[in-house]
Amino acid sequence: MAVANKAPTAPTVSMDKLVSLCKRRGFVFPSSEIYGGFNGVWDYGPLGTELRANVKAAWWKDFVHSREDIVGLDSGILASPRVWEASGHLQNFTDPMVECKNCKHRFRADHIDLDKNCPVCGKKDWSDIRQFNTMFKTFVGPVEDDASVAYLRPETCQAIFVNFRLVQQAMRKKLPFGIAQIGKAFRNEITTGNFIFRLRELEQMELEYFVRPGEDERTFDEWLLRDVEWLTRLGVRREMLHLYEHPAEKRSHYSKRTVDIEYDFPFGRSELWGHANRGDFDLTQHKNASGEELEYFDDESKEHVVPYVIEPSLGVDRTMLVLLLEAFDEQPDKDGIRTVLHFHPRVAPIKVAVLPLVKKDEGLVSKARALFDELRSELTAQYDETSTVGRRYRRQDEIGTPWCVTVDGQTLEDGTVTVRDRDSMEQVRLPSAEVLPVLQRRLRQPWSRPE
Ligand code: GAP
Repeated sequence: MAVANKAPTAPTVSMDKLVSLCKRRGFVFPSSEIYGGFNGVWDYGPLGTELRANVKAAWWKDFVHSREDIVGLDSGILASPRVWEASGHLQNFTDPMVECKNCKHRFRADHIDLDKNCPVCGKKDWSDIRQFNTMFKTFVGPVEDDASVAYLRPETCQAIFVNFRLVQQAMRKKLPFGIAQIGKAFRNEITTGNFIFRLRELEQMELEYFVRPGEDERTFDEWLLRDVEWLTRLGVRREMLHLYEHPAEKRSHYSKRTVDIEYDFPFGRSELWGHANRGDFDLTQHKNASGEELEYFDDESKEHVVPYVIEPSLGVDRTMLVLLLEAFDEQPDKDGIRTVLHFHPRVAPIKVAVLPLVKKDEGLVSKARALFDELRSELTAQYDETSTVGRRYRRQDEIGTPWCVTVDGQTLEDGTVTVRDRDSMEQVRLPSAEVLPVLQRRLRQPWSRPE
């Protein structure tokens, strides 16, 4: 696979504009803003919470529920510190750190050019580079001593390895099979930034796919293709995605091969979805450190096998950022600029809005409320009766609602309503009783981003 060139290919919306929309419309808020903020953590507002839940549900449905060979796990954020000793994280989960001796700012040494001056104070007085372990430490129990040190997990996958045999036996899985997990992870990143791209508190969707040694390379390539396709089906333009093959010296300590699916962010091309061939590193480490059998017994050949692991590992927050960037669109129209988020309907926070044409007509309002109640029993829905219909459409466009249903005078006569499509802006009249089944069908259909 070709090594990607690092120059971004296509400009998207500026980060400032996106951050401001996300705050104004309730997607993402800066953490602890009333206390001056808290670096590396963001809070998800009402619509961000829905978007996030939909991203996780889509991943879980497509990679767990739709497959017979993959099952789920939900493990603790805290675990025995022996896990991190065996996994190599205590020793190797480090980033190179350098300090500007003049202004005391710290940077990741691999993220800046040390031949140049400090980007903060403009002087050139660098410290030596030292390795900084990015695991968050805490204490378990009332005494804060060395014996009670524990770590917040920096990746979700270790519990999958530790529980490998329990899951395999409980579910009677045969190779090849996978274990998936979604959950929070914590990394004391030296520098954070670019909104929800690099966080200290993040969430991952990780899959560990166990195969027989020898089947790993083919399986790796299959997952890479499948994952690119999954992103494009969710509406990410194929030309914005690139494969980056890590050279051997840049790979993590556990990896035989690493290929990132990268995305052209407004701040440059960067990792979205890591893929690693972890070989038998993790199971062997945990087997040796714990003394427990972590092998797979093949009933047919009567052999014990330590499976190889292919790991696609995707950040929930980065996926949200990519979906927001891809969805953002501005179209000049007669009233100014129409801002639209073209989300795939599957991930759109609100699926449908019900808009009564006039709010003072009791008959019309009661029809609209009845339809709203019916729709929200199955779909996320909003009821909006304030200001002109045009403004209400705009409000829904700006949060990416795929369909708006208008209830008007004709509804009282013939029971039909208007369904307006966010992407084409086409309006069709339908009997009100057909709206829910029609939208449910549309939600299951493939969707493509308008050009
Ligand atoms: N278990 C392997 C692993 O954790 P990784 O490449 O360090 O590999 C996997 O992380 C994914 O998690 C990344 O591709 C990215 O999407 C997400 N991720 C990692 N660090 C992150 C951070 N500081 N903030 C937000 N997302 C992050």
